[in-house]
Amino acid sequence: MSTKQILHMNPGQGDTSYARNSTVQKTEQDRMKTLIIEAITGLCGLSSTSPPKSMAIADLGCSSGPNALTLVSTTVDAIYRHCAQHAQPLPEICVFLNDLPNNDFNSIAKSLASLKYNHDDLADPVLITGMIPGSFYERLFPCNSLQFVCSSNGLHWLSKAPEDLKESRLPMYDMDEQLRISKRAVVANSYARQFKKDFTRFLNLRAQELVPGGRMVISLYGRCSDNPTSKSNQAWQVVAVALNDMASRGIIDKEKLDSFYIPLYAPLEKEVNEIIEGEGSFKINKMQMRNPFSGMEDALVGAKMIALAIRAVFESTIVFHFGSSDEIMDEFAMTVERNLSSGSGWRAVLAAEYPLVLLCLSLTRVI
Ligand SMILES: C[S@@+](CC[C@H](N)C(=O)[O-])C[C@H]1O[C@@H](n2cnc3c(N)ncnc32)[C@H](O)[C@@H]1O
Repeated sequence: MSTKQILHMNPGQGDTSYARNSTVQKTEQDRMKTLIIEAITGLCGLSSTSPPKSMAIADLGCSSGPNALTLVSTTVDAIYRHCAQHAQPLPEICVFLNDLPNNDFNSIAKSLASLKYNHDDLADPVLITGMIPGSFYERLFPCNSLQFVCSSNGLHWLSKAPEDLKESRLPMYDMDEQLRISKRAVVANSYARQFKKDFTRFLNLRAQELVPGGRMVISLYGRCSDNPTSKSNQAWQVVAVALNDMASRGIIDKEKLDSFYIPLYAPLEKEVNEIIEGEGSFKINKMQMRNPFSGMEDALVGAKMIALAIRAVFESTIVFHFGSSDEIMDEFAMTVERNLSSGSGWRAVLAAEYPLVLLCLSLTRVI
């Protein structure tokens, strides 16, 4: 089963929705602003040069809730500001929001329409909007039709879990610790190969859709250690540890856990660099690496909030495999919260057990 058929963030506006539980992702989107403004400056040029007459921009993996519009709003603002500062005519702008078909597109349709009218103060801005359901591992736009692509907090999702693990019935996270440790490198390598395939394809497809010189600003989860046997070599570890805990208490079925594979991979900075260089269509302008929680005050973020955020992201994947049950999902969130709260608190637990980073890149299409 592919990710496209299963994955969606929790829809709507309720307590468990992505809309209400995505502050960490929003913080990353805000941090991407500088790279987006730089990319727009590069695309629009200086006062002496003519900016493009029309610009098409797309956010890939936009999800739903307020975050869905953050990157495109930042981009549109950057274009308008740039044109005002350099006395350039405004281009016509097309804004596209993409996500997988099961995304809650209904809830973003209205807010997307309101994006159009936020800029009524400007002289005749033409802003056309559209939603593009589909996978970013497939062609989404015509050749040479986009000037700018952005994507936040999404490219660590694979098109599918590694087939070879499933075929050889090797669990992604064995309940037996000895077996888990002995197979850790095999599992890690299998995920790394799937990421390489998927990310190469993503770059190749976007290179076809972007005009030459077109820009891309993307962020995804990565990891810091290249030790394949380190405790924290997988992005899904925090989910697997909680489910393992629940299986050991008989809340979910152990056999079902053995056949559960989360299509997620957090690469090293080095792997991302090598794949981009190997694929060859893009030049890296800048690459930034940061702690997802740095600068977030404890008043804003805590173990409960992170557990609810994890639930909002992983619920569809868990429910698809284990069946739909509010009790299981409530217990899952409580287990994650409890695991993060142990010892000297969630920051220490995350740093020691699940030290993920956010990688943010600015790229230009060179060929
Ligand atoms: C954690 S959310 C991030 C949403 C938003 N960009 C943000 O920063 O808050 C990741 C999003 O990527 C989407 N996604 C994952 N794989 C995808 C794919 N192959 N094509 C399109 N969207 C995908 C998911 O459905 C989800 O909405």
